[in-house]
Amino acid sequence: MKGILGRYRNQLPLANYDFTLGEGDTPLISAPALSRATGAEIFLKLEGCNPTGSFKDRGMVVAVAKAMEEKSGAIICASTGNTAASAAAYAARAGLTCAVVIPQGNIALGKLAQAMIFGARVLPIEGNFDCALKLVRELAEQGNLTLVNSVNPHRIEGQKTAAFEIVDELGDAPEILALPVGNAGNITAYWRGFSEYLRAGTASRAPKMFGFQAAGAAPIVRGAPIENPQTIATAIRIGNPASWKGALAARAESGGLIEAVTDDEILAAYRLLAEREGVFCEPASAAGVAGILKLARAERLPRGARIVCVLTGSGLKDPETAMRGLELPEALPATMDAVARALEIG
Ligand code: F0G
Repeated sequence: MKGILGRYRNQLPLANYDFTLGEGDTPLISAPALSRATGAEIFLKLEGCNPTGSFKDRGMVVAVAKAMEEKSGAIICASTGNTAASAAAYAARAGLTCAVVIPQGNIALGKLAQAMIFGARVLPIEGNFDCALKLVRELAEQGNLTLVNSVNPHRIEGQKTAAFEIVDELGDAPEILALPVGNAGNITAYWRGFSEYLRAGTASRAPKMFGFQAAGAAPIVRGAPIENPQTIATAIRIGNPASWKGALAARAESGGLIEAVTDDEILAAYRLLAEREGVFCEPASAAGVAGILKLARAERLPRGARIVCVLTGSGLKDPETAMRGLELPEALPATMDAVARALEIG
C-alpha cells in the first residue's frame, strides 16, 4: 500500500512521498437498490474506509507531510470531529503536537474518542464550528502553528485524489457527483481533481457537481451565513463555510447544483443505505444520497445517468445516532427453546 502520496506523486507537490497511514484507494461499489429506486446507475465511494474513517485523511496526509517539511512545531484545527480525528492521527505518526478546537456537545462520540486516544490536545469551546474556525485562524497567524483546516491549500490538493480514483476506476468521469457540503472544501477539491483530469485528457468530460447541505445549515443554498446552524448531521453543522467561493465555482463551472435536504430525508437515506445496500455511513455522509433520492422523486434526474455518491465517513463514528429509535431486546435464558421462541421458529 503506497497511499495517495505514492500513487499520485506527479500531481502532488512534496519532497517526501513515504509518509502514509494507508489512505486512499477506497472502494467504489455499485448500489443496486438505489439504482432501482432512482432509475439511475449509482455507485458509492466508500470514504469511510480511510485509516481514520473519513475522507479527511487524503488531505491531512499532504498537509502534515508539508508541515514536517516546513519544520512546523505543531498543527491546529477547528473541527466538527473528522478533521480532528485525522489531524490527531497524522500528527501522532509524524511526532508533531496537535491541538483541536471543537464545538462542545456537538461531536460524535467515535470522533472524540479518536482525537483523544491519538493524544491531541482537545479543547471544547462554548461556541459552534464557525467560532472555532475563526479562533484557530487567528491563533495560527500568531504562532509557529500550522493550520490544517481546508483553508490550508495542501488539504484540497490531497482530497482531489478521490476524483482521480473515480476516473481511473470507471474509465471516465461519471455524469453526476453527489456529496454533502459543510465547510465546502471537499466539493472544491473534487472539482479541482475532475478539472485537472479533463485538462490532461485523462477524462473526456467532468461531472455535474451536486452538493447537498442540511436544511438547518444551508448557508450556500440561502445565499447568506447562518448564525446558529442546526442539524442531526453534526459533521456539516456549519453556518459560514470557508470554501464558499470554491463551492460556487464548482457549481457554476460544472453546471451543477447545491440544494438542501431535511434531517428526516438524511436519516431516511442513512437507514436505506444500511438496510438495503449493507453500507453503514455517518448521517452527514447520507446527505448526498438523500439529495439524489429527492431529485429522483421530483423527476429531475436524467434516466440511466451514471452517478457517484460520496459517502464521506464511517457509520461507526456515531453509534449513538445509529441506535436512536432502535431497541435491543432483554437478555434471554441461554437455551434453544427460549431463542427459538423469540425467533418464532417451529
Ligand atoms: N462529511 C463528513 C463526514 C464530514 O466530516 C464533513 C466535514 C463533510 C462531509 C463536509 O465536507 O467540510 O469539505 O464540505 N467535516 C469537517 C470536520 C468540517 O471538521 O471534520 P466539507
